[in-house]
Amino acid sequence: ALRDTFARKAHISDQRPQYGLHPQASFKVAILGASGGIGQPLALLVKMSPLVSALHLYDIANVKGVAADLGHCNTPSQVLDFTGASELANCLKGVNLVVIPAGVPRKPGMTRDDLFNINANIVKTLVEAVADNCPDTFIHIISNPVNSTVPIAAEVLKQKGVYDPKKLFGVTTLDVVRANTFVAQKKNLKLIDVDVPVVGGHAGITILPLLSKTKPTVNFTDEEVVELTVRIQNAGTEVVEAKAGAGSATLSMAYAAARFVESSLRALDGDGDVYECAYVESNLTELPFFASRIKLGRNGVEALISSEIHGLTEYEHKALESLKPELKASIEKGVAFAQKQA
Ligand code: NAI
Repeated sequence: ALRDTFARKAHISDQRPQYGLHPQASFKVAILGASGGIGQPLALLVKMSPLVSALHLYDIANVKGVAADLGHCNTPSQVLDFTGASELANCLKGVNLVVIPAGVPRKPGMTRDDLFNINANIVKTLVEAVADNCPDTFIHIISNPVNSTVPIAAEVLKQKGVYDPKKLFGVTTLDVVRANTFVAQKKNLKLIDVDVPVVGGHAGITILPLLSKTKPTVNFTDEEVVELTVRIQNAGTEVVEAKAGAGSATLSMAYAAARFVESSLRALDGDGDVYECAYVESNLTELPFFASRIKLGRNGVEALISSEIHGLTEYEHKALESLKPELKASIEKGVAFAQKQA
């Protein structure tokens, strides 16, 4: 059932009778920041994947208990725990996919950029270890601000001489998950059918849901477009405020991240019909990193789907132009940080 949930994604998937070309497929997945608010439910969801043979959980504290607990679930993967910097290299050896939700989350009144100073250093250190120990792996970055932490990761990998732009992803799946949910609620649609592409970046106005490209086709009034767009852009803040100091989205984020992990593993397994939105190195606009729908394959990003960012409505076109300066500045901030540290 979990697989079916994550299987729903892009336009053509409905026609495919089945995926999972190799029933014995087995991949090793590492989660860095595994005892955190996102890390724990994400580890649980990944533990349920039939495509995973080993789940490596790393954190600076409290990971032993999480691993002991999860290890009792009778699903195929073996769970191993790794605590602290001295065990990081062993955690990463032989891993096919690394997910990074390590770092501090927002509190009320904070923007994602307020997290920059702490999380930039954490991501840099972790990605250096990835470069040294499993340079061929897929890397999923969750730690915010994603608009800057992904460019930091790219610079670190370049400095280490192992950067493959096809294998580095900023996880924006939660924006898509939220957009699908809010549109289905607003328009009384069956949730499972709704698919809204979300492009740009992963903070405030840089999050641009392309409502005009919603599948199945939905008509929105101008007011609905503004209301939905603003709600999707501020959905993270909705959760931050509701949690009132206890952190940001963790459960919906874990759900979204697990969907992106499962999609990536299916692509690694040879499924030729895997599409997701993600924040990746891109030539779709003049910006070096941009979130869009991508086709995933064995080697990572197989194609950027350009059709969706053409033929935009006037509202979407303006929103796209006005997000570019902010996204550009966040990218440059990340690059400058990584180069200064080099
Ligand atoms: P949390 O504070 O509950 O967990 C973070 C975990 O990272 C903790 O267990 C902590 O020990 C660990 N950690 C800290 N430094 C580390 C290091 N050097 N190495 C390994 N682990 C380390 O935070 P939460 O709620 O899990 O959020 C994590 C990150 O995810 C935050 O940056 C947050 O902003 C981001 N986030 C991203 C979203 C997205 O859509 N991409 C959505 C929601 C949150």
